[in-house]
Amino acid sequence: MRIDIITVLPELLHSPFNASILKRAIDAGLVEVHFHNLRDYTSDNYKSIDDTQFGGGAGMVMMIEPIDKCITALKEQRDYNEVIYMTPDGVTLNQGMANHLSLKENIIILCGHYKGVDQRVRDQFITREISIGDYVLSGGELGAAVLCDAIIRLIPGVLGNETSALTDSFQDNLLAPPIYTRPREYKGWKVPELLFSGNFPKIEKWREEQAYQRTKDRRPDLLDD
Ligand code: ADE
Repeated sequence: MRIDIITVLPELLHSPFNASILKRAIDAGLVEVHFHNLRDYTSDNYKSIDDTQFGGGAGMVMMIEPIDKCITALKEQRDYNEVIYMTPDGVTLNQGMANHLSLKENIIILCGHYKGVDQRVRDQFITREISIGDYVLSGGELGAAVLCDAIIRLIPGVLGNETSALTDSFQDNLLAPPIYTRPREYKGWKVPELLFSGNFPKIEKWREEQAYQRTKDRRPDLLDD
């Protein structure tokens, strides 16, 4: 898989891809991630990427020309399955979407800033608009990093134990059950005795019940789906 991220703040994106699972995935050649600085696609001396809104109103709008030039240059090199725009008014990211996107070959992610992009960018180039939640960030970069993390960890071979992504919260519309490790007792706080029973069908059943109860308590909306 290849991911091209278009941004005005590439430096904001460096560290998430430079540690842990994402770095390992990149180093192993399982995913390529490229950053493109929008200012490299401007045509004026000031490297302007934004301007005031037609019709008046506060806030700057990202202009279509640098974005067009960048996306067009990328599309000349290869075909893209998706051109995603990170925006608070997009569809809220969920596990199903991450699963779907992890199967794609080439993806462009455009990070918005200021008031957002000229609507014609959305109309002409964008195949999918994604929000990472009902709150407004200063720009799309952190959202893009979240999206990439959610996608990349699902690529086969990225996680050491292939099954561990399958047992994540949300994979079956349930939150994950409680988990425990050593010590068996800490300051008098004990691990449920059943987990030492060696009765694996019973443990599995307990985990399913716990997952269901936790989902019912915290995210009953998931059970409605
Ligand atoms: N840009 C600003 N806020 C955002 C959000 N919630 N999700 C994705 N991109 C954003």
